[in-house]
Amino acid sequence: MAEHIPESIISEIISANDLTEIAAKYTELKRSGGSLVGLCPFHNEKTPSFHISPDMQLYYCFGCGAGGNIISFIEAAENLDFIDAVKYLAQRANITIPETGFAAQDRERHEKKQTLININTDAAKFFRAQLISGKSKKALDYIKKRAISEKMVNVFGLGYAPDSWDSLTKHLSSLGYKKEDMVLAGVCGKSKSGRVYDVFRDRFMFPIIDVRGNVIAFGGRIFEDKGAIKYYNTNETLVFNKRQNLFGLNLARKSSPENLIIVEGYMDVLMLYQYGIQNAVASLGTAFTEEQARLISRYVKEAILCYDTDEAGVRATNRAIEVFRGSGVNIKILNLPDGKDPDEFVKRNGAEAFRELTKKAKSVIEYKLYVLEKKFNLSDNTQKAEFASEASKIIAQSKSDVERDLYSKVIAEKTGISSSAVETQVRKNSGRNEKREKREIIRESVTLNVRKKGPSKLLSARRKLISLFAFDKKTMAEIPQYESLFESDVHKKLVKRISEGEVNDPAVFMTEFSGDDVAEAAAALSQPVNYEDNSAAAREIAAVIKKEKINELIEKSMKDGDLETLNRLIKEKNNL
Ligand code: UTP
Ligand code: MN
Repeated sequence: MAEHIPESIISEIISANDLTEIAAKYTELKRSGGSLVGLCPFHNEKTPSFHISPDMQLYYCFGCGAGGNIISFIEAAENLDFIDAVKYLAQRANITIPETGFAAQDRERHEKKQTLININTDAAKFFRAQLISGKSKKALDYIKKRAISEKMVNVFGLGYAPDSWDSLTKHLSSLGYKKEDMVLAGVCGKSKSGRVYDVFRDRFMFPIIDVRGNVIAFGGRIFEDKGAIKYYNTNETLVFNKRQNLFGLNLARKSSPENLIIVEGYMDVLMLYQYGIQNAVASLGTAFTEEQARLISRYVKEAILCYDTDEAGVRATNRAIEVFRGSGVNIKILNLPDGKDPDEFVKRNGAEAFRELTKKAKSVIEYKLYVLEKKFNLSDNTQKAEFASEASKIIAQSKSDVERDLYSKVIAEKTGISSSAVETQVRKNSGRNEKREKREIIRESVTLNVRKKGPSKLLSARRKLISLFAFDKKTMAEIPQYESLFESDVHKKLVKRISEGEVNDPAVFMTEFSGDDVAEAAAALSQPVNYEDNSAAAREIAAVIKKEKINELIEKSMKDGDLETLNRLIKEKNNL
């Protein structure tokens, strides 16, 4: 990666920043032996598999395979390219870097990204000018109809894409952009015949702006409520990944809010803002993603989900609750009355009414109980009992004694069942949960330990493969392709002799070994072999061996502080 950058600059930047300190901003780290361990900032997990070697300033996650040095950490964590990550770290450490210090390839990619951002920015200006010029009565009427203030047109940089196939294309050409770059930026398309045309035509335009203030994409709304796709969004580009961005976050983060309100639509974010509620964000035409949860966790400790109350909204809410699990962000749920969306609600009832509702937003448990209750008819005794039983499962998910006690009483009141009966039920369920969690933790820590010691899982996989060869003569012909997976003399000898057809009776064959080798040969020849398809099993075991071997080498390279080897191994592992 960094070969062409003056070593001196890179090493100065690396040594001026501490990986441990930076990583601690993204995840809580605990000391474990010589390393620091925590929940991986790059994927969702319940037990920590993210390791940092503070001495060597390298990291690796045994769960998702992310790894590298402080620069690659920043690239991944801040969604930056190499050059921006280096700049970010340089700035953090007050180091100035000469522009010439970057490799041609990195510089090109960086410049391309900048061009795409420039194109999007100029497109936004163009759309805005079209709107403000007043040439389109339709667009002006629309702003009036939706009661969007003039100020919001400026704050959000709203615009109008004219009903034309080439007005933006022509405009961008006049500014000197290349057609191929306009297509790469996502604002233009290219027909089969090679003609380049405007993607957004006769639409009301919402620029999508990232947290650094760059225009990276657009959402374009049609004017009628039916017909074609209501919102057309820019396809993914070099600068636009919809999973990693949130509409409105660039504005919401400015006020350093205590929490963020997550709504469904662009219009909801806009109208709340207009009414002075400036901490709302919306995902970009997709279900809420892990990347977005991570992004949010960087700014706030609490997020309020404010989705529709229809079936799709409930599903989206449940999904978001899951996505946020383990993110460190506390979730609350706000349901607006009468199935209104925030845009309509705030226009009709004002900001104060909305703020009051956010104060009353439900905790996850409360929300789940509320959704559950709607499914039952509580004047029916059988249904009451069923409801209480289901409710106790939900309450049992809470880790807080106070909360469990509180909601047990609520359910008791609602059903007329004694609160001690409900509490007993809750306790039983939470006992089960605890046991399950303990089992999971034990299971994960066992695998983690095995991984830590490396050879153990590796050794057992090698033994399994040898036993399989010894057991099933049909796989004999396949042995040569696997020979390189073995390293110890005992294993090599076993594999060689099996492939020569000389191991008819393992017990007899054993006598060829002496000392410690006997035990190992015995182990390697006596693993249970009961696979449905031995050839397939051999391939699978071989894959495990390769992976575990790489894990072992990864650990070593981290201990040695050998970044080059670490990067090569990560690549190799990803290609497995
Ligand atoms: P909504 O249909 O609820 O949009 O979709 P909205 O913001 O309330 O729009 P108005 O009030 O009718 O103008 C919610 C979000 O889902 C995405 C957009 O991000 C939209 O804001 N969406 C919706 C699309 O990406 N494409 C669509 O066709 C529809
Ligand atoms: Mn709406």
